Amino acid sequence: MKIHYLGHSAFEIETNGKKFLIDPFLVCVQNYKPENIYNIFVTHGHGDHLGSAIEISRMTSAPITAIFELANYCSKQGAKAIDIGLGAWQEYSWGRVVAVPAFHSSTTPDGHYAGSPCGFVFDIDGQTIYHAGDTSLSTEMKMIGEVYQPDIAILPIGGKYTMDIEHAVKAAEWLGASAIIPMHYNTFDAISVDITEFERQIREIGKIPMVMKIGE
Ligand code: NI
Ligand code: MN
Repeated sequence: MKIHYLGHSAFEIETNGKKFLIDPFLVCVQNYKPENIYNIFVTHGHGDHLGSAIEISRMTSAPITAIFELANYCSKQGAKAIDIGLGAWQEYSWGRVVAVPAFHSSTTPDGHYAGSPCGFVFDIDGQTIYHAGDTSLSTEMKMIGEVYQPDIAILPIGGKYTMDIEHAVKAAEWLGASAIIPMHYNTFDAISVDITEFERQIREIGKIPMVMKIGE
């Protein structure tokens, strides 16, 4: 399994030659071409997460998995969509995925209610990855740690709209993941952080900070 960081909260994950995208807001990455994309996951309707999902789905016919209301919006825009609710495993050819609670808001680009925001837990070949989406710190993370036991947690750290570094460190403890990938920081001024401070605090609790370069 390979994890590529595409900037902000966007990731491309590759497993046995199949790729899927999470929150494909691609303005930070140079010359990215979506190839071999089997699925797209979108945590909520905000523009910096929905990103190019609809265009990529139209182009590649990869379906967008999202919460019911957002999935309906995507299919009205001509994308393929898989609608889900929080809390049940959804099967894919390369693994399975469950949507988990996130505490934030969610609207479509035209300003309508887009259902609950969410995070996703991916179970791929026995490896578990949690992408938190945009969220505050919440005790749901204790549940996610206990029930899904993520190996890798991808957490927002930029503050202002989501958790900051201090809360992400607490989340890392509750989730029990051994490696933490930061996201949703330094894309614009309101969410700028000192990333060395994140690395220091994550090491301090005995975990591995996996700070990824955009395009890596
Ligand atoms: Ni948001
Ligand atoms: Mn966001």
